[in-house]
Amino acid sequence: MNKIYLWGIVITVAMLGFTYMSVGMSEGGLNGDIVNMLTVAAAISLVVITVFVVIKYVRQMQTDTADGQLADEQWDGVGEYLNEVPKGWAIMFLLTMVWGMWYFIAGYPVNSYSQIGEYNEDVAVHNAKFEAQYASITGDRLVEMGESVFIAECKICHGLKADGIDGKAANLNQRIEAKTVKFAIENGSNNHLLGSEMPMPDRNGLFNTNTGSLITDAEIDVVSAYVANGMTGTGADVFVGTCAACHGEDGKGMEYVAPSVATFSPALVTNILNHGKKGAIGKMPAFDRLNAKQKEAVGAYITSLSN
Ligand code: HEC
Ligand code: HEC
Repeated sequence: MNKIYLWGIVITVAMLGFTYMSVGMSEGGLNGDIVNMLTVAAAISLVVITVFVVIKYVRQMQTDTADGQLADEQWDGVGEYLNEVPKGWAIMFLLTMVWGMWYFIAGYPVNSYSQIGEYNEDVAVHNAKFEAQYASITGDRLVEMGESVFIAECKICHGLKADGIDGKAANLNQRIEAKTVKFAIENGSNNHLLGSEMPMPDRNGLFNTNTGSLITDAEIDVVSAYVANGMTGTGADVFVGTCAACHGEDGKGMEYVAPSVATFSPALVTNILNHGKKGAIGKMPAFDRLNAKQKEAVGAYITSLSN
């Protein structure tokens, strides 16, 4: 017998042996279960067919000799036969290209029919139902809903008590920490806190109108503590002279000009969730997976913590 058939039989037996060891010997084994039996039968046929088809081609490579006309070009003595492109292959190739274009333009895009598209449609329907059901809730129920969103999405960074877990994220029991205020003054701020792009200048653009000069290091420290203490203590004069023009004397902000640094509001939190925020502590991620109502709710919850 040709050595190659012998090898084929050895490999087949070995592979079937491995299959038996992993399936047949496991607890319960084949167990007469029809699905298991069919799977094993399929595995056996695949092994046998694969091994003997491979053998057929190896034999053919050993014995076949080529004929036909050689092309003129040669590469280090290696030539190429002048063969027609097989018609079936060429047709398949062109059809694959057409199919590929269809798939890119019409088939795959997430809103057309595809498993992803179907999933997205289902999610949209579900979300619409959800939003209709909760559209009108306000007050305490909104805060409660926000608390559950917070526990599900935010507590991993901000902590169950929203205290920021020792500086890992912002402590949301107060509007803002001194180091965050200081960071905003020194570096400016461009986090879409007003929704639109409305940056705050850095310290080189912050004049204290009381002294007529740029804000100083000492003033930055004192005004940061003032804002972090809920707009109390020393520093009111610096705030009025430097910040009030945009943030208002009480720090509660002005629409389209500057956000409140004294209080949270659902709108401010929603803007932070829409765009994320980079600051002194680190990076707050954007939360695209929350819908508008959930953002409003978690904003109401955070507002209720500090105000
Ligand atoms: C020219 C107007 C302007 C002035 C003056 C100004 N701010 Fe701002 N401030 C803004 C705007 C606009 C934003 C929102 C920027 C953004 O979207 O990130 C902002 C943001 C901030 C933030 C970031 C809030 C957060 O949640 O991180 C802090 C803190 C802040 N300002 C404090 C101050 C203090 C303190 C002063 C005075 C020393 C001051 N600002 C002066 C316009 C101003
Ligand atoms: C991956 C960690 C992480 C998660 C999750 C996270 N945050 Fe934050 N958050 C931060 C960090 C870090 C900051 C501080 C950013 C800075 O340096 O100003 C922050 C800051 C904030 C601020 C204060 C921004 C300001 O004005 O200074 C709010 C409000 C906030 N997060 C709300 C949320 C809400 C609501 C959720 C859940 C939907 C959430 N965060 C989930 C990390 C996180």
